[in-house]
Amino acid sequence: MARVVNVDEYEDLARVKMPKMYYDFYAGGAEDKWTLRENRSAFSRIRIRPQVLVDVSHTDLTTSVLGLKIACPIMVAPTALHKLAHPEGELATARATAAANTVMVVSTSSSHTIEEIADTGPGIRFFQLYIFNKVRAMELVARAEKAGYKAIVLTVDTPILGRREDDLRNRLVLPPDVSMKLIDGIGEQHSQPTEPGSSLAAVASEYKDKSITWKDVQAFMKLTKLPFLLKGILTKEDALKAIDICVDGIIVSNHGGRQLDHVPATISVLEEVAITRNSCYVVAAAAGRCPVFVDGGIRRGTDVFKALALGASGVFVGRPVLFGLAIDGEQGVKKVLDMLKDELRTTMVIAGCPTLAHINRSSVQTPEEKPS
Ligand code: FNR
Repeated sequence: MARVVNVDEYEDLARVKMPKMYYDFYAGGAEDKWTLRENRSAFSRIRIRPQVLVDVSHTDLTTSVLGLKIACPIMVAPTALHKLAHPEGELATARATAAANTVMVVSTSSSHTIEEIADTGPGIRFFQLYIFNKVRAMELVARAEKAGYKAIVLTVDTPILGRREDDLRNRLVLPPDVSMKLIDGIGEQHSQPTEPGSSLAAVASEYKDKSITWKDVQAFMKLTKLPFLLKGILTKEDALKAIDICVDGIIVSNHGGRQLDHVPATISVLEEVAITRNSCYVVAAAAGRCPVFVDGGIRRGTDVFKALALGASGVFVGRPVLFGLAIDGEQGVKKVLDMLKDELRTTMVIAGCPTLAHINRSSVQTPEEKPS
């Protein structure tokens, strides 16, 4: 196993090891990649306000997500095609995530099926849904439900794929042994683009249902007993609409800067959305609660701490898991999750927060705030 001490080092190793076309697919972002960079820079502008002389001899990072107990509030975001990183693909990720006792969100664009991933053994898995067409989507939801997945995460920021110019330039194609198995051969069909461009963009543009609205989501929610989360919300207006239709959770996400360039960093809008979480307690009293999660640019335990302080109930990480997988397979994914968790613990101890409940709004200072 490579000797790495932080998650960025896995990315450095992956840049050297992986074929450029696939490294670029994982690492890249939309157009000028402003949002991609901003996802990181925005974290660096937030300061931590430590409290000293607090008894931190015992720490507790455990938390509950949708009533499910997990080891810490760091979870695995849905990402496509893990087999581009490692021959065991999502199977290795699933085993590592289960070993870390946290949630894995399995993508519709996985290179293994819902059932193959479930067969790796016990683990808390959510299923991320893209609606290519409504009938297919309903089938996928039913399969996830049957295979023991615990929630549906509908991604709402991807009517078409963003312009990822690295993929266009590289004329991204999948190797013959890798496909998006849940979308039945669509990936294979398009593995050789006939014109300059990326086969994935072709799949998304041709086959995605671009007519989906809030009404459809509401109807969809009725078709499953599983909790239903929306991923890709960036404004309080949309958060309130989500609460109106009684979703079980919101993931503040800009798809890791891969969809629309120049949308804000997720950490900078989290509070705007999370504040509505409080109104949610009032507005959607019947639902009981609506946790708000965030992803995008989380590479350090301090980032997780900042997100929790600004109202997140937990965070998801995307690329670090892929790079850990590319370098050290299952062990690499486990190590990524362990390193982030250890860094979060270190941050909490030195900031005087022995438990997650101790982390609150006064634990951080955002750029707009003057020290009082
Ligand atoms: C993604 N993401 C994503 N999201 C989703 O809902 N379904 C998907 O299939 C994918 N696929 C995907 C592939 C790759 C290569 C990346 C990098 C990302 C977005 C993902 O869930 C998450 O929002 C971001 O990755 C979070 O940002 P970081 O942690 O990668 O900075």
